[in-house]
Amino acid sequence: MASLENRPLPSLTAVAIATAIVAGLGGYFVGQASSLGLFQGSRHTKAAKEPVDSDEEEIEESSDEEELDDNGDIQNFTSSKEECKLVLVVRTDLGMTKGKIAAQCSHATLACYKYFLRRAPNSPILQRWERLGQAKVAVQVKSEEELELLQAQAISLGLCAQVIHDAGRTQIASGSATVLGVGPGPKSEVDKVTGHLKLL
Ligand SMILES: *[C@@H]1O[C@H](CO)[C@@H](O)[C@H](O)[C@H]1NC(C)=O
Repeated sequence: MASLENRPLPSLTAVAIATAIVAGLGGYFVGQASSLGLFQGSRHTKAAKEPVDSDEEEIEESSDEEELDDNGDIQNFTSSKEECKLVLVVRTDLGMTKGKIAAQCSHATLACYKYFLRRAPNSPILQRWERLGQAKVAVQVKSEEELELLQAQAISLGLCAQVIHDAGRTQIASGSATVLGVGPGPKSEVDKVTGHLKLL
């Protein structure tokens, strides 16, 4: 009995070892193939087909990094001692994901900041905003026309107003205006442009 029970064991072990070797080799070759880039094509196809559900990160780049909208001279609003804020006006008609909105708002904040650094680096407005918490508020509009109208209004008041256009590699048509940054500027001045808009 003992010898009968023991007998199958070595062969089972042999099968297990053989399986492990084959699995190991298989894994090795899969690893080699993937490091050689053999699977890259299919991986890209998959990511392109389902960009929204995919867990893969989406790299967001602005379409033309160095191109800022010309806002002319930014007013100093020297008579105002108010706190300053930056308002991010987001289009909701494009169906952007939360992640995309976050990236586009970051682009808008940076574009406004860069405009100040280039055109009004010593602006008391920028200094006050930086010192006091860099307040930002996100509001919404439903069309590109509204965004452009608000930008024109802001510029006519001497505020900074930068529209971000998407590079369009993933979710939406290339070049779409996505977010308008207004400010930083004194709260009551910015509210003349965006005060009537609903929060995002
Ligand atoms: C605003 O103030 C800064 C610093 O005092 C000055 O350099 C700049 O010319 C002023 N800009 C305008 C538009 O008045």
